[in-house]
Amino acid sequence: MKFHSIRRPARAPAPETSSLAARFAAVRRQTDALAAPLSPEDCALQSMPDASPVKWHLAHTTWFFETFVLERFAPGFVPFDPAFRVLFNSYYNGVGDKHPRPERGLLSRPDLSTVRAYRAHVEAALASLLRDPPPAAAALIELGLHHEQQHQELIVTDFKHLLSRNPARPAYHPRWPLMPVKPQSMNWSGYAGGLVEIGHDGKGFAFDNEVPRHQAFVAPFELASRLVTHGEFAEFIADGGYRRPELWLSLGWDTVVSRGWEAPLYWERAGSTWRTFTLHGMVDIDDHTPVNHVSLFEADAYARWAGARLPTEFEWEVAASARPVEGNFLESGVMHPLPLGARGSVDAPAQLFGDVWEWTRSDYGPYPGFRTAAGAVGEYNGKFMCGQYVLRGGSCATPQSHIRSTYRNFFPPDARWQFSGIRLARDQAA
Ligand SMILES: [Fe+2]
Repeated sequence: MKFHSIRRPARAPAPETSSLAARFAAVRRQTDALAAPLSPEDCALQSMPDASPVKWHLAHTTWFFETFVLERFAPGFVPFDPAFRVLFNSYYNGVGDKHPRPERGLLSRPDLSTVRAYRAHVEAALASLLRDPPPAAAALIELGLHHEQQHQELIVTDFKHLLSRNPARPAYHPRWPLMPVKPQSMNWSGYAGGLVEIGHDGKGFAFDNEVPRHQAFVAPFELASRLVTHGEFAEFIADGGYRRPELWLSLGWDTVVSRGWEAPLYWERAGSTWRTFTLHGMVDIDDHTPVNHVSLFEADAYARWAGARLPTEFEWEVAASARPVEGNFLESGVMHPLPLGARGSVDAPAQLFGDVWEWTRSDYGPYPGFRTAAGAVGEYNGKFMCGQYVLRGGSCATPQSHIRSTYRNFFPPDARWQFSGIRLARDQAA
């Protein structure tokens, strides 16, 4: 049995982020830094339709500023290359045609150096606007920065999936970042519930899907003090978890059978135990690190097996709104969830922020009074409110300044390539 905690890499302090221009520069540099260790070949490949090449992410985040800010607010705007309007449009039908998502990996041209020149060109074109932007431009630049931070996380998860498909199992960072620590037991915190305030309060940035703030009723509930670990999930597998249909939602069982799932994504059998792929290469599973790369279906089945359930997104928000936004984020450089060692507390749920996105049992839908923005940028969130589930709290690949207690991430219930994990909840005993 191994106990691990973080062996933190040396990192420069976060840059001053008070002005929009300073934050723009900081976010763009953080994106460049993620791609810096990668070769042009690394950046060009696409491992599956859901994941995109790093080069595409570098270009698309730039396209967002060019299309939604420069085109509208820069006098005499001339596109860097008119073909990019289609090539790097993700899903905005209001902008026009899109290059097919599953074929992003076929774009050997433009090459990586041209994409880097595109980034520099758009940054230079934005420079004067960043000094004194009109309010509408400032709002779109702010949205573009949070959009780029979302793609920073996707660069990590998509590149991890790409490396996992290489039989050599190469590493992004070769050094394993964890060292021994004493693990924490799982405890339960009780919440009275009642009529609670849900959603963003309007102070600072929020996406449109976090508002309007509104009241919701939450029954008394309990929330686990920490995340479910690799070791606990391995017990579920050993108990026949993937072979017992009574534990699964119908759609989940169909998925297990049709895809031959017998463990989380990236797990491989190694005798009587398991190994898993990380951005540090293949490692033995660590019993005390939070399990990740599970679908909603697996999270739900595990919870049923454990005699608990997944929290609703409102229950999660009630607990998290009282907690500081602290945890293991992208900036730690670990790119892997951490065990609850000395960081843990038995008084209140820990690990709510960072480490892994926490699946909730809540369907991703609009809050009462939800409205989309006018124009193509209004396609950002609202049109995806069907067939997806809400995840909360951010992960080890989420920039810290990007997350908050009201943040609603969403993925289909079979998605596994994000850093998605499990926190248990249960009804409070009467
Ligand atoms: Fe995007």
